[in-house]
Amino acid sequence: MKNILVVFGTRPEAIKLAPFVLQAKKDSRFRTKVCSTGQHREMLKPLLSFFDITPDYDLDLMRPGQSLTDISVGVMNGLHEILSKEPIDAVVVQGDTTSCFVASLVAFYHKVPVVHVEAGLRSGDIYSPYPEEFNRKATGLIASLHFAPTETAKENLLRERYEEKTVFVTGNTGIDALFTVKKKLSENGALKEVHNNKYSFLSPDRKLVLVTIHRRESFGAPMEEVMKGLVALSKRADVELLIPLHMNPQVRASANKIFGPNATWIDKDSPPESGKSKIWLCEPVDYVPFVYLMDKSHLIITDSGGVQEEAPSLGKPILVAREKTERPEAIAAGSSMLIPLEEKAFLKTAQEVLDTPSIYSRMSQAKNPFGDGAACDRILNIMAEKL
Ligand code: UD1
Ligand code: UDP
Repeated sequence: MKNILVVFGTRPEAIKLAPFVLQAKKDSRFRTKVCSTGQHREMLKPLLSFFDITPDYDLDLMRPGQSLTDISVGVMNGLHEILSKEPIDAVVVQGDTTSCFVASLVAFYHKVPVVHVEAGLRSGDIYSPYPEEFNRKATGLIASLHFAPTETAKENLLRERYEEKTVFVTGNTGIDALFTVKKKLSENGALKEVHNNKYSFLSPDRKLVLVTIHRRESFGAPMEEVMKGLVALSKRADVELLIPLHMNPQVRASANKIFGPNATWIDKDSPPESGKSKIWLCEPVDYVPFVYLMDKSHLIITDSGGVQEEAPSLGKPILVAREKTERPEAIAAGSSMLIPLEEKAFLKTAQEVLDTPSIYSRMSQAKNPFGDGAACDRILNIMAEKL
């Protein structure tokens, strides 16, 4: 039996590693422990409770407005303490966050093998997304097993001269999580009803545009251009925008400045009057309601990584507010398009998708290239054989 330590810290890592943790805990080939770095405190809590995961270790690192150095130092000290006392055969990390990279580095210092889930994504620009492109490349240098979600990701690793016998295409574990929640929502009438009631203020006569933005490389002017484009888009009679706002203070400051009186903040305890606003702002929503909202939306605009993978699985066209993406598969499949970070060009692209039925229907019918919902199974089987 192998002792594995699964480390995560942010919302997307928790979503993508939750199905892995649940399956690993039932698998007699592994003794599985979980460490949350707590990089995201509020955004992690509801996820852990939904998936019923209690971390064995919680480093509780989140500080308002934390710097990348603050998080790195915290993860380093915390993981070092755990690996100094726990006999661990492999550390499992996911993606490209600071929690992921620094946990890998500490595992390396302890000569513990690292398993990298969602390996091989590349934008080709070390500053975009920042610091994620560096984090995933550096994690790759340390990892002994690389689980690539797609053939494209595998090719990226082979181009960087990783040994082919260490790279496996498994699909993205985020699709495993998405399918679990989708199934729950479609089979559980009461759960669906709760969400129908919660979002009953959304007008049946308007097309819902769901928006998320949080990338560090867009902070300041580029993010504010996107927000100005969103304000201009909201003037159309046939749409309304719902924007769950990331908790990063820099995102909040730009949102306050640009949306101002154009937007209405949704108070959790008293739902607003339908039709009262064209831009609804709210706190980040939990994962189940977010899947419900993605499914309900007509168009998704985002700079998120995970949402770029989920939208095609739900048949939703997606506009990616970034200069570069490490998920070209969705663009190649036809479901996603980059949208310029400049107000007028942004508006023009969004209008074109909304107003051209051939573009809209091509984007909503594309096939999901990111997985079939069985990624965790594949990863666990390979780990059992190779570790
Ligand atoms: C982090 C990841 C990014 C990932 C994103 C997912 C790094 C460097 N960045 O970015 O790769 O795409 O998470 O969302 O690892 N905050 C709260 N409560 C929370 C979470 C965040 O208040 O639950 C606020 C805090 O003020 C915190 C700030 O957001 O200091 C920034 O959080 P941080 O984890 O540093 O970076 P993100 O921008 O969220
Ligand atoms: N998400 C969520 N609530 C929200 C916004 C996003 O549950 O209000 C989910 C989304 O479905 C996806 C993940 O969070 O699975 C993406 O997280 P984020 O955009 O923060 O990070 P990224 O994927 O860009 O690293």
